[in-house]
Amino acid sequence: MSIQNLAELTRGDFPLLDNKSASQHKLIYFDHAATSQKPKDVINALTNYYSHYNANVHRGAHQLSARATESFEGAREITANFVKANSSREIIFTRNASESINLVARSWGEENIREGDEILLTIMEHHSNIVPWQILAKKTGCKLRFAELTVDGELDIEDFLSKLSHRTKLVSLVHISNSLGCCNPIQEVVSIARKFDTLILLDACQSLAHRAIDVASLDVDFLVGSSHKLCGPTGIGFLWSREELLDQMPPFLGGGEMIQEVFLDQSSWSNLPHKFEAGTPAIAEAIGMGVAIKYLENLGFEKIQDWEKTLTTHLFDSLESVEGIKIYGPSINRQPNRGSLASFTIDGVHVNDLAELLDTRGICIRSGHHCCQPLHRYYGIPGTARASLSFTSTIEEINYFKDELISIVDFLKAQI
Ligand SMILES: Cc1ncc(COP(=O)(O)O)c(C=O)c1O
Repeated sequence: MSIQNLAELTRGDFPLLDNKSASQHKLIYFDHAATSQKPKDVINALTNYYSHYNANVHRGAHQLSARATESFEGAREITANFVKANSSREIIFTRNASESINLVARSWGEENIREGDEILLTIMEHHSNIVPWQILAKKTGCKLRFAELTVDGELDIEDFLSKLSHRTKLVSLVHISNSLGCCNPIQEVVSIARKFDTLILLDACQSLAHRAIDVASLDVDFLVGSSHKLCGPTGIGFLWSREELLDQMPPFLGGGEMIQEVFLDQSSWSNLPHKFEAGTPAIAEAIGMGVAIKYLENLGFEKIQDWEKTLTTHLFDSLESVEGIKIYGPSINRQPNRGSLASFTIDGVHVNDLAELLDTRGICIRSGHHCCQPLHRYYGIPGTARASLSFTSTIEEINYFKDELISIVDFLKAQI
């Protein structure tokens, strides 16, 4: 079957991509890994909520509240189906993936982790999947260990295995790295980790918009995601876990919505998922996330993966021809299921200069440590430039990007 050009099909749905850049060039947005652009359906869902049924959820006796609650809980259902959860009670709405990881660290971690226990992470983790565990380690005296990388910029499974033991209470790792773009072999990781009775948290921030996720077949214990990475609004994310595990965990934050009864000296908690959702939630944002998920599902993840693989192959072919370039993470030939991004450095050129000059030509990429300082320190570099694509990206944009990159590198080298 031929690969469908999803950019042709979807570009009209994304108003922002039609804009000109501040420099009056056609805008090329290659920073989807930082945050995705939003389709009209999502933007309209937010306006529609505020224009027609803005009300608080789970509280009012009036029709507006009933409608808001129905849409809000409908979004939870959509999210549950999206990751193939057993029930919507397994979906906890949070502000973002960072908050989801903090929830697990504070609620599950403080209850279950003791001095002498170990948590196994990887060198490639986003700060969101390092700092909450450092805070927990400081409180409990547990030890954090970090699996390292192979020369190809992939998880070193041998090193991972050597750092696992019966002291390891949790393995927490990223599915697709936001810096290296590698897709970690979760099935292998899980089958090794299970031998040590370890729980597994999967940071799916960079995979949820790009491939179908099934928590049952992944066989992990916690999965976190952010709506803004999957074409939805900012301010909403989620934690998935098994109901029996969530049931055993104490609340993370206290306040309205998460209680059953409150007395002056004690309170009892609401049932799942509300036990973990103190205060008025991000109602419009949750509804918007539901619409974003539906949008991606309607496109179809097989088609998304096929088109993004075509784009990523072209991106790698284009970049590999640039003199002095070093791309971090596995090549697309080595790892055909890798993420649709490339992080790189170019000899003799500062990555921030590259990003700034590309911006003057209408191209948005990211430069810096991408919230992965330990990874960049591991490689002995302050940062990389990163171009990250989505199904809305085109071959022509990649060609223009490559030509402008070469011209900027020539210009910068001429200044030396
Ligand atoms: C792999 C990964 N994990 C976690 C996060 C944190 O996401 P958020 O800032 O939405 O909490 C990001 C965001 O860049 C990410 O790429």
